Formats: sequence, structure tokens, C-alpha cells
Amino acid sequence: MSESATPAAPFIICENLVKVHKVAGLEVVALQGLDLVVNAREVLGVVGSSGSGKSTLLSILGGLDHPTAGKAIVNGRDLLKMSDAAMTLYRRSQVGFVWQQGGRNLVPYLDAQENVELPMLLEGRSRRFASRRAQELLELVGLGDRRRHRMTSMSGGEQQRVAIAIALANSAPLLLADEPTGELDSLTALSIFQALRDIRDRLGVTVVIVSHDREIAKQVDRVIGIQDGKVATETSAASGHETRAMLDSAGRLQIPKALREQFGVTTRVVLEATPEGVLMRAVADTASPTPDL
Ligand SMILES: Nc1ncnc2c1ncn2[C@@H]1O[C@H](COP(=O)(O)OP(=O)(O)OP(=O)(O)O)[C@@H](O)[C@H]1O
Ligand SMILES: [Mg+2]
Repeated sequence: MSESATPAAPFIICENLVKVHKVAGLEVVALQGLDLVVNAREVLGVVGSSGSGKSTLLSILGGLDHPTAGKAIVNGRDLLKMSDAAMTLYRRSQVGFVWQQGGRNLVPYLDAQENVELPMLLEGRSRRFASRRAQELLELVGLGDRRRHRMTSMSGGEQQRVAIAIALANSAPLLLADEPTGELDSLTALSIFQALRDIRDRLGVTVVIVSHDREIAKQVDRVIGIQDGKVATETSAASGHETRAMLDSAGRLQIPKALREQFGVTTRVVLEATPEGVLMRAVADTASPTPDL
């Protein structure tokens, strides 16, 4: 890229993002200072153990839930400054959602075409518009020739494609998927990832996919690993699929548990400057915090 070219502004910017869930007087910190930048048209994978904050992040990016503090900007819109009404509008116009059991929200006795038309008709679109758009979308997800099949005669993967078509109906620039392949066998899962990449290529949308699938790194542009409500690692083709630890905006680093265990790192390390870079050496935990004189 030449120096004069201005790079496009990132599509998603989260800085020091915090989300505290309050339930019956109890507070659960689901996101604690998360930093994340996603470019327009990127397909991003999000992994992490159960309870690490993946779905919470998606709910915030999707305008289903208000952030507590920090910064969250999507497509130039500041999610922290939005009223409930503005957030509803944001959710309807800017975001498409795909869930783990996408098929569950479909009407079993309607065919694919009717299922995709239905939400558009409920939004007040004309029959003509809904019919044409549903046809386009089903072709886009590879179901052009199965449009007239009822849900009851479609496989889990096909039903999930119908759900993806519905998510795209509002022409939103952001597609969020929470475990979209969680209920599918691995071959069908691959075909869903492929479909999501095709959609990005053809529509130019930005896609964020939460997944437990170990194979996801090969299916997306970049994968971030969330640990305790923060981005701890990143893996991408650009880094040769090497997993890199991420520093947050304050320079803090989370060392993956496997490495901590392997090298006996508990609460203290010595940092040493070497010609190769910074070496981190474990220190026995029994050491007194003040050096012996
Ligand atoms: N609506 C809520 N009310 C209260 N606590 C919540 C709520 N949603 C999530 N949490 C808590 O916030 C933390 C993060 O949850 P989240 O659902 O984001 O995790 P996750 O990474 O999606 O997990 P999983 O892989 O199991 O889906 C957990 O401790 C969870 O119990
Ligand atoms: Mg979840």
C-alpha cells in the first residue's frame, strides 16, 4: 500500500470494553477491558472456554445488550452512547444474527422461500419485494433449487443456510454467528463456514463467528482467543497460523495456562532482554517480594 493511501477505518473498535451482568444484586464481570479491532469484510473467529465472554461480546456488538464501560464502535456508531430506541434501530438495520440452533426458529410446515419471506412481511415489506429478496438470498446460500422444500425435509445444514438467508434479509453490514455449526457434523460445519466466506466475498459484509470448532482457524481470516473477558491470543494466516499472545492497551499480557504449567509460572516472572527478544523466566513462588540484603 502506498503511503498516501488512507486505510479504511476499522469496522469494529472495542477498547477497554467492560460488561457487568447484574442479576439479583449479584455482579458478574463478563468482559473486563477487552480490546479488539476488526476490519470491514473480515471473517473473524472467536474461541474461548465456556463462560469466557464470547456470547456477551456478540450480544454487545449486536446491540442486544448495553456495554457497561469502555469503547465499542461499530460502523462508526458508538454503542455506549445509544439510547434503547437507537439500539433497536441499530439492531434492525446493522446486524444479522445466526444462532446455534438456527433451524429452531424456522416454521416447520413452511417451505424455505416462505420462511425467508415471513420476517420481511412482518416488517411491513411488500409481497413482491419479500418474494424477490427471498429468492436472491436462497440462491446466495446455495439453496436456489430447494426453495420449495419444507423445513421438515431439509437437513440440519440446509436449515442453517435458511437461517443465514433470513439473517441477511435486512442487508445489514455485520453478520454475527454464535456457534452456527455447534449442532452439525464436521463436514456440514465446513460447508457452513464456506457459505459464510462466500457471503463475505459477494456481499462485502463483516462476519464474526463464535465457535468451539478446533478447525475454525483454517476457515476464517483470523481467530481471537478470549480468556476471562479479554482477548488473550490471536491466530491468523498472516502470522503463518502461529498463535500470538495479545497485549491489552495497558501493556498487560495473558500467558496461556498450558505454557504457565509447562514452565512453572505462577505469580512472578523475571523479564530479561536478550538479542532475540524478551525472555520470561519463572520465579519460585516462595521468594520474598523484597530482596535479601
Ligand atoms: N444475562 C446474563 N446475566 C448474568 N450473567 C451472565 C449473563 N450472560 C452471561 N453471564 C455470565 O457472564 C460470563 C460470560 O458468559 P458468556 O455467555 O458470554 O460466555 P461464553 O463464552 O459465551 O460461554 P459458552 O461457551 O458457555 O457459551 C459467565 O460468567 C456468565 O455466567
Ligand atoms: Mg456462549
